[in-house]
Amino acid sequence: MFVPCMTMIKEGTIIAVDGHSSTGKSTFAKLIASRYGLIYVDTGALYRGVTLYAIENSLIDSNNIIDETSLKDALEKLELSFRPTGVDGATELFIGERNIERIIRGLKVSSKVSFIASLPMVRSYVDTILAKYGRSGGVIMDGRDIGTVVFPNAEIKIFMTASAEVRAKRRYKEMISRGENPNFESVLANVKERDYLDENRDTAPLKRAPDALLLDNSTMTIEDQLKWFEQLIAKQ
Ligand code: DC
Repeated sequence: MFVPCMTMIKEGTIIAVDGHSSTGKSTFAKLIASRYGLIYVDTGALYRGVTLYAIENSLIDSNNIIDETSLKDALEKLELSFRPTGVDGATELFIGERNIERIIRGLKVSSKVSFIASLPMVRSYVDTILAKYGRSGGVIMDGRDIGTVVFPNAEIKIFMTASAEVRAKRRYKEMISRGENPNFESVLANVKERDYLDENRDTAPLKRAPDALLLDNSTMTIEDQLKWFEQLIAKQ
């Protein structure tokens, strides 16, 4: 439901929401988009989409060795697009005509995505898609490098984090609610592994931009976080 807010956000604004995996960045960013009439872009979904393609076409093996030559060719033709669901401004990711929104959230893609996302050619493929959204502004994007690399001049930058255990619990619950049968220890291990890979890769590693505001939501509800944001905007 669109709930307009008293405080307006300047036209053309780009809001960058970066941070660790499973910090609830997308839930937060989607709600802000809906309240303030912005477009929401889930940049991680694009990395997940490329990863799904790589898995299904055997371009990444069980040791996470990637066939970079074939992937490079594939990226020239790969058509990833967000399509509106018609509900609350939400979108779903498609490869061509196939809806991949659900499958890209599973453990299979989650366990490989950091390897695919570390490749410069994949990052530049995704950045080209993001640049189109940035041109018109009025967007909120969540990811890892939005405020540092993709839009270093974003008007508002937020860096979200929470403890690894809190994040693993959230992801675990999400997977249960999707009818999956996850093992908590593997989910926690995956959260920690992704932190390490995201923070230590050579290209566009996850880090807090010096001018990003820190939002540690380990003990905050989503309402607390929205209030925090409302106060932030009111001060602008
Ligand atoms: O936000 P997420 O968990 O859906 O992101 C999936 C992966 O993509 C994660 O391993 C980090 C990577 N990613 C990235 O490198 N840069 C972004 N802007 C967004 C996501």
